[in-house]
Amino acid sequence: MIDAFKSAAADVYDEVVDLRRTFHRHPELSGEEHETARRVAETLETLGLDARRGVYETGVVGTLDGGEPGPTLLLRADMDALPIREETGLDFASENEGVMHACGHDLHTSSLLGTAMILSRHQDAVHGQVRFCFQPHEERIPGGAKFMIEDGVLDATNGVPAPEAVFGQHVKPDLPAGTIGVRPGWFMASADEVYATVTGEGGHAASPHEVAADATYVASQIVVALQSLVSRQCPPDVSSVFTIGRLIADGAPNVIPSSARLEGTFRAMDEDWRYRAHDLFRRVVENTAAAHGASAEVEVREGYPALYNHEGPTRFVEEAATEYVGPEQTVEADPWFAGEDFAFFLQECPGTFYQLGVGSEHGLHTSRVAPDEEALRTSTGFMAYLAWRYGREQAQDR
Ligand code: NI
Repeated sequence: MIDAFKSAAADVYDEVVDLRRTFHRHPELSGEEHETARRVAETLETLGLDARRGVYETGVVGTLDGGEPGPTLLLRADMDALPIREETGLDFASENEGVMHACGHDLHTSSLLGTAMILSRHQDAVHGQVRFCFQPHEERIPGGAKFMIEDGVLDATNGVPAPEAVFGQHVKPDLPAGTIGVRPGWFMASADEVYATVTGEGGHAASPHEVAADATYVASQIVVALQSLVSRQCPPDVSSVFTIGRLIADGAPNVIPSSARLEGTFRAMDEDWRYRAHDLFRRVVENTAAAHGASAEVEVREGYPALYNHEGPTRFVEEAATEYVGPEQTVEADPWFAGEDFAFFLQECPGTFYQLGVGSEHGLHTSRVAPDEEALRTSTGFMAYLAWRYGREQAQDR
C-alpha cells in the first residue's frame, strides 16, 4: 500500500497546495473560521464523505466508512490563524490585514483534506471508520478541542464505536521538509497564565517609612521569590518554566504607587507538578506580600494541559514513519514548550501528536515563517498510510 499511497499523494498534491494557498490567503482568527470551515465541508462532500458542520461552532467532522470491518480512528487538524501582520512577501500572502497563518494550521487543514482524498480513493481497503476532525479555536484559550469533545467527537455514533486512537500533527520549521518527529511520553507543556495584584499604600517617594507597604518593592520581592518554585520545589526530572513578563507599578519618580500588578506564564511537562505549582504560586505571592505588610490577590488562568503521547500509538507512528519516509527521515522530537489543545484529546483517548518538518528559516508565530509546501507531499500520504495500517492491525488483532 505504501506505493499506492505515495502515488495518490503525488496525484492530489497540486490540489492540496491550491487549498493550502487559499487558506493562507484568507486566514481567520480563532472562533471566526467560517470560510475555512465552509471550504473544508464542501471539499469533504465533493469526495462523497459525510461532513457534520457546527460540531462546536465552526468545527467540521468528516466521516469515511472503510470497506472492511475495523476500529474507529480520529485524525485531527486545527484551522485558525494568528493576529500577526504577514511579512513573507509570498504571492499568496494574507489578504486579511493583520491576520496570518503563522502556525501552519493552513498546512494542517489542507494536509488532512489531502489525506481524506487519498483514503477515499482506497476506501474499499480501509478497515473501520476514519473521522476527520477539523478543529477551530486552537490559538486562544480555552481552545476548541475541549468543546468538540463535549459535542461528542470522541463518542460512539449510529452504531459506530467510539474512536480507539487519535492522531494529529504539527509543522516544525527547524526540521527538514518531510521529516517526521515522534516522542513518547510528556511532549508539550501546559501553559497557564498567572496574575497577581499587590496592594500597599501610596505616598511620597521621599518618605517610604510613612507608607504601610511599598507595592513596587513588594512586587519585586515576589518576582524574585517565585524563582524558587522551579529551582527548589519542582522535581528535578520534570521540565518547567516560570516567567513574569509584565510588572506594572504605575507611580512616578517621586510617587510610591498604591498597587502593582504582575503577569506571567507558567509551563510544565507534568500535570501533578502543574497543580501543585498553582498552590505554591498562591502561597509565595500571598505570604511574601504579608511579610512586607501588603496584601495580594492571585489569579491563575488555566490554559491547555501538558500533552502526553501514549507509548503504544507513538511507537506505532514511529514504525509507520520508518516504513513510509524511511529511517533517516524519522527522528526523535525534542520536548516542546509550546501549548497545544490536542492535549485534551490525548487525555480522553490513546494516541499521539507528531511533528512534520517544514524546513523554514523563521520560526512559528513570526511574520516571516514560510513552511516548505513539499512537506505536503509526505504528510498527506503518510497520514493516509497511518490510518490504513492502524485499521488493518487492529482488525487483525480481534
Ligand atoms: Ni499551532
